[in-house]
Amino acid sequence: MASDFIQDDLQALKEASLYRRLRLIEGEQGPIVTVDGHTVLNFCSNNYLGLANHPALREAAKEAIDRYGCGSGASRLISGNMALHEELENKIAELKGTEAALVVNSGFQANTGILSTLVGEGDLILSDALNHASIIDGCRLSRAKVFVYAHCDLDQLERGLKDAPQNSRKLIVTESLFSMDGDEAPLGGIVSLAGTYGAMVMVDEAHATGVAEPNGAGLVAQLGLGDGVLVQMGTLGKALGGFGAYVAGSSALRDLLINRCRSFIFTTSLPPAVMAMGIAAIDLVKREPERRQALRDSCEHLRTGLKDMGFTLGNSQSQILPLIVGDATQCMKLSEWLLEQGVFAQGIRPPTVPPGTSRLRITLMATHTLEQIDQALKVFKEVA
Ligand SMILES: Cc1ncc(COP(=O)(O)O)c(C=O)c1O
Repeated sequence: MASDFIQDDLQALKEASLYRRLRLIEGEQGPIVTVDGHTVLNFCSNNYLGLANHPALREAAKEAIDRYGCGSGASRLISGNMALHEELENKIAELKGTEAALVVNSGFQANTGILSTLVGEGDLILSDALNHASIIDGCRLSRAKVFVYAHCDLDQLERGLKDAPQNSRKLIVTESLFSMDGDEAPLGGIVSLAGTYGAMVMVDEAHATGVAEPNGAGLVAQLGLGDGVLVQMGTLGKALGGFGAYVAGSSALRDLLINRCRSFIFTTSLPPAVMAMGIAAIDLVKREPERRQALRDSCEHLRTGLKDMGFTLGNSQSQILPLIVGDATQCMKLSEWLLEQGVFAQGIRPPTVPPGTSRLRITLMATHTLEQIDQALKVFKEVA
């Protein structure tokens, strides 16, 4: 039959230990969750600040529904550009210290849309080897040539810039805080090389937004590199506890995206409640620096505990702690065993990470208590 390949593909995934299935979370997203009927510690959420179930975000969403209704009814360029979209955009621009910002429906859509807007056939994208799937797909969609440089390797990046065809547009794209490794890109070096070779820079702040000082603005702001970065993008669905994404930069960039970015143009705009959550989250992050501090303290506690047991956690100094196992089958066995012991730490396998580097991607939330972390450390001790 024409569809036999479906069963064959699934079987091949199972044989390679790469088959994935959805786990069911009942109730709210918190430090403790019910997964497939078992109540466990949640050590693999991107809800880093614990805002996904925060009363301020719930209230903001409810008020927005009461005032503006549920749906936006159309794309932004038709009749779906509502007051809350622009209010959120102004708030993001203020937070990031940029001239303007544009809300896009998701980080995935932002990355595919931005890249294919800024470069095309005959141009060159220089992309870190560990960039997110949405960046990889954006590169493909753009039809530009792609030079993949080894993770955080400035020498290779420079070689790629030197070899770029004359008169081609050049765009360097990197995550600021890498999603699966928790380490930081050498942003200062990247911006400086971009200046030397006349390249544009795009930084994905998905995992630094809400978390990195000052005020959760991200690493570009922290390092004072805003002037050297053409595009800062990030998501509202991780530390900010809601959904959606943003692009921050110049007014001209915003204008161009409104006119050319297909994933912005050809989709119904996000509903008012989602915008209201984003606004409430940014206010909350500014107002409560203690959340970011609590996250840092908890991560340090867990990191020290795991390192003392002999685990290696790469170069991460952040809320993302990669415990590398290597083999995909072993990684998933460990993840299942931990779940049985009450610790939910999802195993991450190829193609999300390179072959041979399957890992537990352990993440914490500001709302985990030190007792909960100690409880998990006891379980990890048995693994060690
Ligand atoms: C680095 C990075 N960029 C982009 C995205 C996509 O963001 P969103 O979840 O808003 O689609 C993610 C996460 O899913 C990510 O980790």
